[in-house]
Amino acid sequence: MRATLSGDRVLLRPLDAENIPLVISWLRDPDVNRYMLSGHEPISVEDEARWYAEMLASESDLVLQIHDAGTGRYLGNTGLHRIDRTHRSGELGIMIGDKVQWGLGYGRDAMIALLRHAFGELGLHRVHLRCHPDNRRGLAAYRAIGFTEVGREREAIFIEGEWQDHLVLDMLEHEFRELHGDTA
Ligand SMILES: CC(C)(COP(=O)(O)OP(=O)(O)OC[C@H]1O[C@@H](n2cnc3c(N)ncnc32)[C@H](O)[C@@H]1OP(=O)(O)O)[C@@H](O)C(=O)NCCC(=O)NCCS
Repeated sequence: MRATLSGDRVLLRPLDAENIPLVISWLRDPDVNRYMLSGHEPISVEDEARWYAEMLASESDLVLQIHDAGTGRYLGNTGLHRIDRTHRSGELGIMIGDKVQWGLGYGRDAMIALLRHAFGELGLHRVHLRCHPDNRRGLAAYRAIGFTEVGREREAIFIEGEWQDHLVLDMLEHEFRELHGDTA
């Protein structure tokens, strides 16, 4: 799926395969991937290119690049996965790969723009996400936006030779509207 969305400070644009080497360098950075559920194994250009093609063709995934709206600087990716038309739900993921840009509000703005699209145009009722319990920055950002922690899935991921838990947070359409205004 493709879309171009705008937030207050960010533009969200369709994936561009030219950025694959940069994205791979972000995914290899231990500061960036520490809590990412995609794991820490190195990803090859071929595998990433296959994933880009799959995402762009998919009817149940929407992955977008996050750019600074003013400068155009490419900052990371965010997306909705496993979009389910029957139950009107989807799972959010985000990575600001350019780590010097953390804590400046880009993550917040990008997620709000994506959620506005999810609850508006795509008509979703619920968006959830999974987060490592030690990802304090991520959890602070999700809670600040209005996600609620709804559970903990035990030993759900295998990272660095260990089974680890992750937390589940979610947001409902009416909660988004109450906090962030209309989706139209
Ligand atoms: C998690 C991530 C998406 C957050 O994006 P960000 O741009 O750094 O966060 P923002 O600047 O938008 O901050 C959003 C909120 O979190 C709070 N926050 C951000 N960093 C924080 C920190 N280190 N400690 C406490 N609160 C923090 C901010 O105060 C802000 O709240 P506010 O809007 O009420 O002021 C980003 O840091 C990232 O991509 N990290 C690496 C990859 C990753 O962990 N992805 C998530 C996997 S589940």
